[in-house]
Amino acid sequence: MGGEVPFPSGDLMKGKRGLIMGVANKRSIAWFIAQQLHAQGAELAFTYVNEAMERRVRPLAESLGAKIIIECDVTSDASMDATFATVKDKWGEIDFLVHAIAFTDKSALEGSFVENTTRQIFKDTMDVSAFSFVDAANRAAKMMKSGGSMITLTYLGSERTIPNYNVMGVAKAALEASTRYIARDLGPRGIRVNSISAGPIKTLAAAGISSGAHMFSFNRAASPLRDDTDPKGVAGAALYLLSDLGLSCTGETHHVDGGFHIVGMPDASALKE
Ligand SMILES: NC(=O)c1ccc[n+]([C@@H]2O[C@H](COP(=O)([O-])OP(=O)(O)OC[C@H]3O[C@@H](n4cnc5c(N)ncnc54)[C@H](O)[C@@H]3O)[C@@H](O)[C@H]2O)c1
Repeated sequence: MGGEVPFPSGDLMKGKRGLIMGVANKRSIAWFIAQQLHAQGAELAFTYVNEAMERRVRPLAESLGAKIIIECDVTSDASMDATFATVKDKWGEIDFLVHAIAFTDKSALEGSFVENTTRQIFKDTMDVSAFSFVDAANRAAKMMKSGGSMITLTYLGSERTIPNYNVMGVAKAALEASTRYIARDLGPRGIRVNSISAGPIKTLAAAGISSGAHMFSFNRAASPLRDDTDPKGVAGAALYLLSDLGLSCTGETHHVDGGFHIVGMPDASALKE
């Protein structure tokens, strides 16, 4: 999936610099986005969550010529301060931000939402998966002196109930609402803010969801395109939203999911999946 076809190259991001938060490995959605932006001339800085991840992320980032590769745990103010101070110090200004970060306790991604969502899990999930975008957007905007564009990654579990997605769906609803409020605040400064709602893609984060296999097969069977969501499609949408192609588009939740979100009642064949 997303394998052989090269990322379309060109100059759409030439002269633009931005921060990519959320690469864990080669399967990460943020990594597909980074490759697409690089193929269009963007200069990229990367964050990784901790030392263990650095081993995977640093070689990937370096393969795209990145010079700024920083450890950043979004739950720590000190870590966020240091990250944005480093980017400001090296670049002064940025043009875009990619936020592709989410986390919850595995115990909350199975069974009953109402029984398995403790106060601590609710708070922690919201902190990492929704507040971190508000925080990163606020910090990034201060470095966007001549306008800019930001995106985050969300999932349909914010709008509809999806088995086992549970508290993460609630956090994604908060993330999408935050996208609209941030877009409203930053719009007068020429900064656009959008979310991409991707269909299921095989990544580390997706592996945590109990009954993930059903999620993939049902999405394939019920979506109009009858296929998995290709991370290259997500990367293409990111390019549109982060480049000047996306002029005048802000506060949007753009679905890249094979059309799954438009289906009210799937064909009978999908129920055999
Ligand atoms: N994979 C899917 O099916 C899918 C579908 C729709 C939306 N998304 C969203 O896309 C985004 C990226 O996820 P992915 O699927 O590429 O998986 P991934 O596991 O590759 O990426 C998740 C990233 O979040 C980072 N992260 C977690 N806690 C963090 C913290 N405290 N500080 C900093 N970083 C932290 C991880 O290090 C990792 O890089 C997430 O928001 C996810 O919810 C994924």
